[in-house]
Amino acid sequence: MAPSRVTAADLLGLKRDRRKIVMTTAYDSLFASLVDQAGVDVILVGDSVGPLLAGEASTLPVTVNQMIYHGRSVQRGTQHALVVVDLPFLSYQVSPRDAMRQGGRVLKRTGAGAVKLEGGRHFAPTVRGLVRAGVPVMGHIGLTPQSLNVLGGIRLQGKGEDATQGLIDDARALEEAGAFAIVLEFVTTSAAQRVTESISIPTIGIGSGPHCDGQVLVLHDMLGLNEAFHPKFVKRYAELGAATRQAVARYAEEVRASAFPDAAHSHS
Ligand code: KIV
Repeated sequence: MAPSRVTAADLLGLKRDRRKIVMTTAYDSLFASLVDQAGVDVILVGDSVGPLLAGEASTLPVTVNQMIYHGRSVQRGTQHALVVVDLPFLSYQVSPRDAMRQGGRVLKRTGAGAVKLEGGRHFAPTVRGLVRAGVPVMGHIGLTPQSLNVLGGIRLQGKGEDATQGLIDDARALEEAGAFAIVLEFVTTSAAQRVTESISIPTIGIGSGPHCDGQVLVLHDMLGLNEAFHPKFVKRYAELGAATRQAVARYAEEVRASAFPDAAHSHS
């Protein structure tokens, strides 16, 4: 029998038991399978796939079809983690009806367990519609990269009482609309703590300090593959960028010196 998948209800249980939730991104079947074997609870197929794998300048050009392709690959490569697929820019912002059509399509075509969308209280009706239609939703507030042009760049969120209260209102509205968890991106440690204590669904932080119910890191950042991006909140657990360069340089050297393939790697 196939092992059972982590569910949204399991994540609520982890918050209740004060056990931390572990989430990373993945975009393809091979990396997703390694991440799954490492025992993470949630794998996010983020729209960060655009900048990271397609070389886009931002997440804005990513399409629903791209998310379906990557979501399906990740779902196929995993057995344990809950797979959550990002709804990309303009697939849900225009109307709740659009969101239901696109969210439903993503779930149907990928086999994933949930979708994620960016935005606070203004998107509560959209979240409610999706959940009613049978699409579990993870929220995402704080720094929301799909709105970078409006936010005016990468800025720490939740500074001061008004901004903190705004985040709490957003989180409560999402919880009330039926979201099962909320990503808090690049929020001050104290604001993240207050949001986390204000709601009963889990918060999953990125660059938002230690008080969230869980943490998410972008896989290519934490593995040192995305070397140009190294903000304070990214801890590198490996240096796969450097390791890849060294390995390929050694291979090139050996081919040019006719040292590869040797007898051990040839068929007589
Ligand atoms: O797209 C993404 O990778 C994300 C994470 C930063 C949470 O949304």
